[in-house]
Amino acid sequence: MSKVKLGVNIDHVATVRNARGEIYPSPLRAALIAQKYGADSITIHLREDRRHIKDKDFLEINKKLKIPLNLELAPTKEMLKISLRHKPNYICIVPEKRSEITTEGGLNLKKNRKLIRDFLKKFRAKKIRTSLFIEPNISDIKVAKEINANCVEIHTGKFCNLLNKKKSTFNEFNRLKKAVNYANIIGLDVHAGHGITFESAKILSKIKGIKEYNIGHFLIGESIFLGLKKTIKKFKNIIN
Ligand code: PXP
Repeated sequence: MSKVKLGVNIDHVATVRNARGEIYPSPLRAALIAQKYGADSITIHLREDRRHIKDKDFLEINKKLKIPLNLELAPTKEMLKISLRHKPNYICIVPEKRSEITTEGGLNLKKNRKLIRDFLKKFRAKKIRTSLFIEPNISDIKVAKEINANCVEIHTGKFCNLLNKKKSTFNEFNRLKKAVNYANIIGLDVHAGHGITFESAKILSKIKGIKEYNIGHFLIGESIFLGLKKTIKKFKNIIN
């Protein structure tokens, strides 16, 4: 069986950069380092309000990356225009609300079926692999298949939140497992993402049939701690 893939989401490198309006830390540099050390793909979310990744980041990364770039976008006219022009390898359609801190839930495929179907058709024509970010429910998975998505990315946020709050994850874990099994049975590739930590990844990895995890916020945050020692040593050397 092929190895489970890791997509590294680098949005929050841009969050740190933008907090000071600086040119560092560079999302491109993060993408290239992730590529060098084994990431299977890089994910960025070009939000309507450009709160983290900017158009320039997307263009630079899209040009220089050798592994696949997965662009997350909301189904808007602007995003359609940008993505069809620059053709990233993968596109994951996500819902987007301006007031949310992060992508709070999956797409409403019942309400937006026709819109999303038309987007998928346009991406397919450009040979872009498509994915839909959805809640772990069977009815949305059925619609995803009917409108010809290549993959579904199952939202793991609820499971991860319950785990962080030390609440019971039993029902949500089973809901995820059922959703993954069903999607596999009807021939969809299954990805998973949102809120994943070392602890939740360990539990989620017991669900067979998830081909790819997309992990960002925790991974970037944890990298600070894995890198502090070296960075402090380097500064001490420089100032002495
Ligand atoms: N997958 C999708 C579709 C997302 O929208 C996000 C958040 O941008 C992630 C994965 C990564 O979530 P996190 O940053 O919590 O790891």
